[in-house]
Amino acid sequence: MGDHVTSQYAVAHVPGDGVGPEVTEVARHCVDLVAARYGFGVQWRPYPLGARHYLQTGEVLPDPVLAELRTADAVLLGAVGSPDVPPGVLERGLLLRLRAELDLYVNLRPSKLRPGVAGAVGKHKLEDLDLVIVRENTEGLYAGAGGTVHRGTQFENATEESLNTYAGVRRCVRYAAELAARRSGRLTLVHKTNVLTHAGALWQRVATEVAAGAGVQLSYAHVDAACLWLVDDPARFDVIVTDNLFGDILSDLGAALTGGLGLAPSGNLNPDRTGPSVFEPVHGSAPDIAGTGRANPAGAVLSAGLMLDHLGQPAAAAELDAAVSAVLADGAPATTAEWEKSLQAHLEGAG
Ligand code: IPM
Ligand code: MN
Repeated sequence: MGDHVTSQYAVAHVPGDGVGPEVTEVARHCVDLVAARYGFGVQWRPYPLGARHYLQTGEVLPDPVLAELRTADAVLLGAVGSPDVPPGVLERGLLLRLRAELDLYVNLRPSKLRPGVAGAVGKHKLEDLDLVIVRENTEGLYAGAGGTVHRGTQFENATEESLNTYAGVRRCVRYAAELAARRSGRLTLVHKTNVLTHAGALWQRVATEVAAGAGVQLSYAHVDAACLWLVDDPARFDVIVTDNLFGDILSDLGAALTGGLGLAPSGNLNPDRTGPSVFEPVHGSAPDIAGTGRANPAGAVLSAGLMLDHLGQPAAAAELDAAVSAVLADGAPATTAEWEKSLQAHLEGAG
């Protein structure tokens, strides 16, 4: 700590569409506030990607831009998307391409019930709902394998294949097991091994191997039962590791249980650090409330916290997390501007 700047991070800022610019602006201010106190600096590099940029230029993620993103220490992304862009263009062309190209093989999605927050299920106690979903982020049904034949006929046949490689499953489970070892020592594999017997067997075998090696206690839940237990008895879970699509679905459920998508952060991690990781709130561009001043920046601020933690600034990261909790404990603000003001007050008070 102190005035001496010891580290400088170059962070690519992709504000994106809709509420994306509004929420990442608040996140940036919060990061700059804690950076000053912890003696590091952040150089923000803006990149205009997303629906608006696509509609203006026809570009989704040009190779030279991707090459520049690779040189950043991290990427902070707001949200991309607009009803004017056909489904899949930005999802596949930008988000999934970044996950694949930057080898962001873990999608880290914490779900924590915080004081003052009404989760979707009234009966949950704070201590029972503080879990992390480790979602495999480059394979499974998201890998892009499959296709359509006989399109537009009675015989149209649309196939999506789930790809699960030994190495891909193993590196994801290893990250989850190491995280579990730093937390409660409890890891749950979520899959559907009774039906998806090929992929399920691979996940089960790898998880058993890796958990034993990491010295963590492994349990297993089918994904349907996991949904029921998340609602009924979330204390069963601490770290959940699961495949790409199950993780996508479970993390929205986790968000609902802990105050909604507005509060949910994510980190698309390259744990090997061969390139930058990408941090984004789980919510989308929310065009219906964009520009109204009512966007909730908490998910973006918490994502920026995950970013600082990944960059090696855990104390600064913990302050962002604590500031969000403190604001929520006072009663969640209704506007982005009030959020920003309260966050700032708590962050300045924390020093
Ligand atoms: C998410 C989103 C994305 C996903 C979409 C927008 C491609 O739902 O980050 O959870 O399915 O991964
Ligand atoms: Mn999702």
